Amino acid sequence: MRLEYLNEQAKKYKAFYELECDCLTSIQTEVLEWVQKKTNFINDKTSTTFWMKVDYKDMAKTSPSLLKYMRAIKTPIREIVVGLLNESLSSGFILHHGAPPMNFKINFPILNTEDVYTEWYDIPMDVLEKLPVTTNQHTGTTAYDLKKLHNDVDKNFKCVGRYNMHTHPVILNSFIPHRVMPGPNAKYPRIMIATMPVNDPINLMQLL
Ligand SMILES: [Fe+2]
Repeated sequence: MRLEYLNEQAKKYKAFYELECDCLTSIQTEVLEWVQKKTNFINDKTSTTFWMKVDYKDMAKTSPSLLKYMRAIKTPIREIVVGLLNESLSSGFILHHGAPPMNFKINFPILNTEDVYTEWYDIPMDVLEKLPVTTNQHTGTTAYDLKKLHNDVDKNFKCVGRYNMHTHPVILNSFIPHRVMPGPNAKYPRIMIATMPVNDPINLMQLL
């Protein structure tokens, strides 16, 4: 099956774009406090689910620095999810790609984000279209199942971006196939949040 929306992504758009943020420490403190109070993520050593749906409205209420920052960069958001990488995902968060309607997310490092790398790969359409597709049970969207390519993707395809999200928030292209790989000095649990903008920040992501 040919998923046209993926075509030429790596040629048209950047894989990631680092944002300036002078209030990252406050955002991290407020979000982490919420995570500690309202979830068990800090102690969870066994979950193999990366994306954790949370009561993001409740999180936003106690994270004024995050909301203030989103207002400052004029980017309203419609949802926040938590990304949790613990010991049971130490071989990486499997190669995958996002699907419409949204092309880009804005992610913030929260805890233990040193030595963990997001890597994007340009995989030609003629390879992708031979792969099986899966339907996301929450969103109903269709995407390629990239599991088979995960382990050797660095040997077989061109890496178009590699980024350790640690000191800045970042706009991330979720359509370009990517995986999240802990390095030898990664600490767990590694926690980040992904915010979903109401509108794609296309202007910052265009290559030309
Ligand atoms: Fe992703």
